[in-house]
Amino acid sequence: MLYERVSSLTQLVEPDRVHRHVYTDAQIFDLEMERIHERVWIYCGHESQVQQPGDYYTVQIGRQPMLMVRGNDRKVHVLYNRCPHRGNMMCGDRYGNTGEFFRCSYHAWTFHHDGKLKNIPMMESGYEGTKLTRDNPDCNMKNAARVDSYRGFVFASLVHDGPLLTEFLGHSKIAFDDMCDRAPMGEVEIVPNCFRVIQNSNWKIFLENQLDALHPSVTHQSTGRAALEVENEIKKETGHAPLSYHMLSAFASVTIEKWDGFQTLNYPNGHCILTGYMGLRPQDPDTLAYEKTLVAAYGEKRKEEILSTNIHHVLIYPGLSVQSPLQQLRAVRPLGVDKTLTEIWHFRLKGAPEPIYRRSLAYYNLVNSPATLVNADDLENFWKIQQGLSSDGGDWVNFQRHYGRDVEKDNVVETRSGMGTSEAPMRNQMKAWAEYMKT
Ligand code: FES
Ligand SMILES: [Fe+2]
Repeated sequence: MLYERVSSLTQLVEPDRVHRHVYTDAQIFDLEMERIHERVWIYCGHESQVQQPGDYYTVQIGRQPMLMVRGNDRKVHVLYNRCPHRGNMMCGDRYGNTGEFFRCSYHAWTFHHDGKLKNIPMMESGYEGTKLTRDNPDCNMKNAARVDSYRGFVFASLVHDGPLLTEFLGHSKIAFDDMCDRAPMGEVEIVPNCFRVIQNSNWKIFLENQLDALHPSVTHQSTGRAALEVENEIKKETGHAPLSYHMLSAFASVTIEKWDGFQTLNYPNGHCILTGYMGLRPQDPDTLAYEKTLVAAYGEKRKEEILSTNIHHVLIYPGLSVQSPLQQLRAVRPLGVDKTLTEIWHFRLKGAPEPIYRRSLAYYNLVNSPATLVNADDLENFWKIQQGLSSDGGDWVNFQRHYGRDVEKDNVVETRSGMGTSEAPMRNQMKAWAEYMKT
């Protein structure tokens, strides 16, 4: 029955609409994990999360519990979080330092940081004459098939075949370039720890929302209006309001018509870039001091290039949403057909003055954290979408806004001028989804 359903999967995705089962069917979810999340490059974490040998961080890839660990050789390894003896999870904590080696809490088998067996207590007497010899690979913790990193951001793929990480990222690697280039030292470091939010909705609903330029001025209008009122009062009294008010008031001041003035660029694999919309270069003393550190590091011309990069959001399908100018990212970990974990991280620009970090922190707290009204309003929509799609009130999800009007050249679908709210990103994601699901 599953086979029959699978062979008709592509019928569930049309260029401009998608059948609701794609969001609600548990068998389709399992197949997505097998064919998408457990195959493609998935973001594990940042190298600075595991600075010392033995430092580890657990991470979910598809349905697989994994470990990212720094070895004595300074390399970052990604292993299945499972003991080869009787299957006990190796690390029950979310993160920590395992010391010189991993030691299973059940029967004390030990492993090097790269997963290779170190020792089994009384191995010679216990296993003499059996197939379990030291050189048997079944004695090792299993590694992810491929691990690679780009500018400190670590990815793993659980299959041996497929494109290289840089090929997979393609143009979307601008997310990491933009983030790191903004640091005078050319790299970022993680701020421990992250917010972890469980959404009662399918993982694709979150991703579709990330570049949905149509919703902010509706969904977040009330938040934006409240912030705008206070911002205007402060401006009246003092002449200028802190940038943090602008982060929220932009939701009210940028109307749907204005959103149409921005652009999305949609790439193969489902990746997508949304151009910038917020003014992030005020002429306050903090910003000017930061710009000086960039001039010292890169020179005037390069500094201008870096700060003029005009990106609001980069979506790296199927698991990452990056806001590089504000050093934030959200990693998507599907837990079930209607349950999704998002990890919300932010980063420090190495070598940048402290106020620039405070700006990133402000955005993190005001716009992306579970405490903000912005996030709460999105979460409520996600849950309501999942409820609606689970009903018999209709079978199709509609993605027709500006359909047929986008401009396609060299494999890139660009929204046409004045049509930034095109649903091209959703169409593009589902096109990639259908391609992955076919294989
Ligand atoms: S289950 Fe790990 S040592 Fe036995
Ligand atoms: Fe939103």
